[in-house]
Amino acid sequence: MDSKPTQASPENALPALPLPAIQAFAAADMAAVDALIRRRLASDVVLVNQVAEHIIAAGGKRLRPMLLLLAARALGHQGADAHQLAAVVEFIHTSTLLHDDVVDESDLRRGRSTANAVWGNAASVLVGDFLYSRSFQLMVELGSMPVQEILADTTNRIAEGEVLQLLHVRNPDVDEAAYLHVIERKTAILFAAATRLGALLAGTGADVQQRLHDYGLNLGLAFQIADDVLDYSADEATLGKHLGDDLAEGKMTLPLIHAMAHADDALRARLRTIVEHGDVAALDDVVAAIHASGGLEYSIDRARVYAARAEAALAGLEDNEAVAALRGLARYAVDRTT
Ligand code: IPE
Ligand code: IPE
Ligand code: MG
Ligand code: MG
Repeated sequence: MDSKPTQASPENALPALPLPAIQAFAAADMAAVDALIRRRLASDVVLVNQVAEHIIAAGGKRLRPMLLLLAARALGHQGADAHQLAAVVEFIHTSTLLHDDVVDESDLRRGRSTANAVWGNAASVLVGDFLYSRSFQLMVELGSMPVQEILADTTNRIAEGEVLQLLHVRNPDVDEAAYLHVIERKTAILFAAATRLGALLAGTGADVQQRLHDYGLNLGLAFQIADDVLDYSADEATLGKHLGDDLAEGKMTLPLIHAMAHADDALRARLRTIVEHGDVAALDDVVAAIHASGGLEYSIDRARVYAARAEAALAGLEDNEAVAALRGLARYAVDRTT
């Protein structure tokens, strides 16, 4: 069923760019986006500024805006409207992070205390709403109904994904299909929207927009699977988030799903109890079970399959440096350490 994870680009294509080269290539556009984000964060309510500044100034990879800019550029478009939409996408992402850390009861993000840890859940949720609605103000300024349609549908489906995930909390029966369903909605859809919007701004037809959508969607799946691997295996200081957050939350992610499916009856029963209780004290045992089952390798292999599909979706586009950068980001989504 699955295509092999071919990491090789088509023979006549430019080689996939490594991250530093991608960052250099996108640097001027990203600086413009960052300036715009900072300018449009402002509110005359002090707490809004404090909370928003806390999370935005902590950085983050800014991957979604970069993808939007590169998608547009791959198709020959660069400009102020791309900067603005890139900021919109990052605002939406930031707002979901504020909400996510409340739901997940996380207290570390981007190497800092989370907003909920500093100001409490109410302030985090409300400033998340501020960023979310600010993103819509920025979007409306562009005056494009197709853009508004994509973003309205996208944010609606993200919300569904978050609720779906909530329904699965502490349920050890969540399997790979159910997991994929959630991560497509909560994560991959926003990546797909970012790259599709880049194609839309470039004025391409439905076919190319669909390709960029497929690229973003598959990259997003790969990205979230890698995130879920990192939650069990990263260096905490590099990641800037606590390990084991998913287990503490009773979240069944792919490494654990794989371990559960390959455990003997006694171990499976124990893992089920741990998930039902969100027993983070048992993290070492869970990590051992994941290692014994090859769950991290399995998950990374799956992520590579999706990354390869993302690259494959770009085949047929006229090749240029931005396309090579998009190829590079598909690989980075899996190989990253942060
Ligand atoms: C975190 O996204 C949420 C996920 C979808 C896994 P990022 O890993 O892109 O977060 P930042 O923006 O770089 O902090
Ligand atoms: C991604 O899931 C959440 C969003 C799409 C906002 P996680 O809960 O795994 O994200 P992190 O690990 O907290 O960044
Ligand atoms: Mg989380
Ligand atoms: Mg995570």
